[in-house]
Amino acid sequence: MFKLEPELYNSFTDNKYYNEVLENSFNIINNKLNRKFDVIVDLGCAEGGITKLLSTRVPHRKLVAIDTVPDLLSYARQYNTGPTIDYQLQDMSVEWPQLSPQLRQLETTVDLVFANFVVPHFTDKTKLMSLISKLLAPGGGVFHSNNMLYPDLNKKLLPKYKGPKPWYPSIEKQIDDYRHSLLDNGFQIKEFTIVEKHWKWSRKQAIEMMPYAVEDFRQFYPNRQLFDEEVGEHLWDTLFDAYRNQPDDPPVADGAWKQFLADESQTEIDDCIPYIRIVAIKD
Ligand SMILES: C[S@@+](CC[C@H](N)C(=O)[O-])C[C@H]1O[C@@H](n2cnc3c(N)ncnc32)[C@H](O)[C@@H]1O
Repeated sequence: MFKLEPELYNSFTDNKYYNEVLENSFNIINNKLNRKFDVIVDLGCAEGGITKLLSTRVPHRKLVAIDTVPDLLSYARQYNTGPTIDYQLQDMSVEWPQLSPQLRQLETTVDLVFANFVVPHFTDKTKLMSLISKLLAPGGGVFHSNNMLYPDLNKKLLPKYKGPKPWYPSIEKQIDDYRHSLLDNGFQIKEFTIVEKHWKWSRKQAIEMMPYAVEDFRQFYPNRQLFDEEVGEHLWDTLFDAYRNQPDDPPVADGAWKQFLADESQTEIDDCIPYIRIVAIKD
């Protein structure tokens, strides 16, 4: 399971690139939807930094913030509290009957489910959206999420690794999965925008983030052995190349990650990581 360190995660999100995404979201929620949000769920709240911000930026009565990692929630409960915020431990990849009684009590009462960079971690997005659909108030409950798109590693795999590998998702497949997960659950899609987005990271951040980026890819492998094999062979290099260089550039021949580590003059990196911005309404 993808497991973030609270302080480290805080340092990844506390920057102007992340803030631009959030400002856009708050603008949509407050100014474009023309709705009031009594009960909000922040899905995948991590260490609570964004939850706290959300609680101050979007008027509401109650904010239930959910994550599946106990350490993140302990940190959130200690450092990112607020009078309306209720942090709850819950794995949202389960079926409805396995949700905690407190969450099931929210059925049809939630006005906004906010999911910022969380849904990419769910292999079965249709199943997740069926839970979200049950939580949302019928006749106008809003689902809003920002979701990074993973790079297509088949475009960066060196010939010696004998691609294409069927388990790497293409961009088109990822987009399709999001769309189907909404339509299959009867959502009305109000916005479904692919946003080209640049992010700059310091060398230190790039090095700290890389293990998470690699671990995050585990979800796409049919089994653990295959993942471990690719980690041993090329995954760090292929992934680093894919995040840093244009998708249609040829792969970096000698290993992008190793080259970056060896070259200390690279003090900053520039990623172009697109994301999908979704606004969907439960009828
Ligand atoms: C990239 S972080 C996003 C955190 C925060 N929403 C933000 O905007 O910065 C993704 C979060 O989703 C949580 N998560 C992943 N899978 C989950 C699951 N099955 N149930 C609940 N939370 C999950 C992770 O623990 C992590 O804290």
